[in-house]
Amino acid sequence: MEKRIIIAIDGYSSSGKSTMARELARRIGYVYVDSGAMYRAVTLFAMRNGMISPEGNIDTARLIASLPEIGITFEAAGADGVQHTLLNGEDVENEIRSMEVSSFVSPVAVIPEVRERLVALQQDFGRKKGIVMDGRDIGTTVFPNAEMKVFVCASPEERARRRYLELTAKGVKADYDEVLRNVVERDRIDTTREVSPLRKADDAIELDNGHMTPAEQMDWLMDKFHEIEARPA
Ligand code: CDP
Repeated sequence: MEKRIIIAIDGYSSSGKSTMARELARRIGYVYVDSGAMYRAVTLFAMRNGMISPEGNIDTARLIASLPEIGITFEAAGADGVQHTLLNGEDVENEIRSMEVSSFVSPVAVIPEVRERLVALQQDFGRKKGIVMDGRDIGTTVFPNAEMKVFVCASPEERARRRYLELTAKGVKADYDEVLRNVVERDRIDTTREVSPLRKADDAIELDNGHMTPAEQMDWLMDKFHEIEARPA
């Protein structure tokens, strides 16, 4: 039987992880899981239920108590080729990408109980292997034994430029400076938090994609995948 592995893709916000992870999974017939979408869905739930004030104060106790009520699932890619995130059965794929959710998600992702619950769900998704998951702590905490680990980086300006283009292409009004501030602030929170901070796993391969085209990036990933897949189990 063909060997199926776990692929962990971690890195900074807007480094293009999701796009590359999704495309890699499609090419090799693996399941793709966007762990960031799960943190975003929890954040949206908290916003809708008045657990986050406009100034960004989080009612942590109430959010922790509500965790069992938050169901997160994914719907297979539809006509748009994108997998949709469902919050208690409702398609929230567009809403979770808003700037508002982006500005509250990192403080929510700091809460240890939130991480504990989402990490357990993510590990469940990986039980059968044959999975590509992207996020911040996939190679360090969720799947420390993943056979292939990639750590993606690019400058904050390049990442903000990409996020800005992504939002404008979707028809969302965006301001480049605001997007850049959000990217820098999330990097700060994600790398300095106490539980599972964003860092490169010792055995992760680094991919600096600042000057790579998407096609070059895919070739690089496919080469690494074939090399690792061919190794004896
Ligand atoms: O889309 P982008 O790369 O900017 O971010 P994302 O992957 O959607 O993740 C949104 C936020 O969720 C991150 O900034 C982290 O604060 C948090 N996150 C995390 O803490 N752990 C993960 N495994 C994935 C996301």
